[in-house]
Amino acid sequence: MTGADAAPLRIDVITIFPAYFSVLEVSLLGKARERGLVDVRVHDLRNWTEDVHRTVDDSPYGGGPGMLMRPEPWGKAIDEVAGGAPQEAEGRALDDVAGASSPPRLVIPTPSGRLFTQQDAVAWAQDERLVFAPARYEGIDARVAADASRRMPVEEVSIGDYVLAGGEAAVVVMIEAIARLLPGFMGNAESPVTESFTPDAGGAALLEAPAYTRPASWRGLDVPEVLLSGDHAAVARWREEAARRRTAQYRPDLLD
Ligand SMILES: C[S@@+](CC[C@H](N)C(=O)[O-])C[C@H]1O[C@@H](n2cnc3c(N)ncnc32)[C@H](O)[C@@H]1O
Repeated sequence: MTGADAAPLRIDVITIFPAYFSVLEVSLLGKARERGLVDVRVHDLRNWTEDVHRTVDDSPYGGGPGMLMRPEPWGKAIDEVAGGAPQEAEGRALDDVAGASSPPRLVIPTPSGRLFTQQDAVAWAQDERLVFAPARYEGIDARVAADASRRMPVEEVSIGDYVLAGGEAAVVVMIEAIARLLPGFMGNAESPVTESFTPDAGGAALLEAPAYTRPASWRGLDVPEVLLSGDHAAVARWREEAARRRTAQYRPDLLD
């Protein structure tokens, strides 16, 4: 469990584009790092290559377009960053290995994974360590996830039904979703409780209702009267109904 008095959530990212992650130094996330809520370490995958060209890719068995990332540099990088050499873990159940020294969760972004959701962000914000493995080319040799899953929890996740050129942007998205849930990250502690995808008391995870600020009338458009009434129960009822209408319009799957 992380928190203001607890150890920071440690996040390692293994990538061929370390510079991409300078974006994690700005805004609230940058402040959270300065304040010690989150400890982000970025590693260059090419440090675990052995040839003079620092090669990380090769053509896929069976043919097909594009290149794949080779398993050797990824395997060595994950062993060193996440800990737990393969021979130590061989033949042992994940629970036994986890019992010895809790291994980090390995997150591999891929469009062919299950969808990353707010529930994942909530769960992973409770972890002590996360390791992210964003790929380039057509992805990583499938044995890397299979091998790592023998000694640590592995999550192959997609951030949406589209294909990016690389996993770096997906990792930034996930880190931001997770880090903003850490205690002390946001000034207003209520924000994460009342927003989209967060289950309410009845268990429904709706989209958030439309929101308004001053002025009460702008370009002929008026803020709904009830929001100006000061009647908190009526405001809560209006927000609940508006959230249901919006969810039905944009994300009917959430109502199922
Ligand atoms: C060009 S994509 C590879 C696409 C892969 N050949 C496929 O069709 O599923 C290269 C990398 O970008 C990242 N990526 C692309 N789209 C993503 C998405 N929707 N969610 C998470 N990661 C994604 C992954 O790291 C992926 O391995």
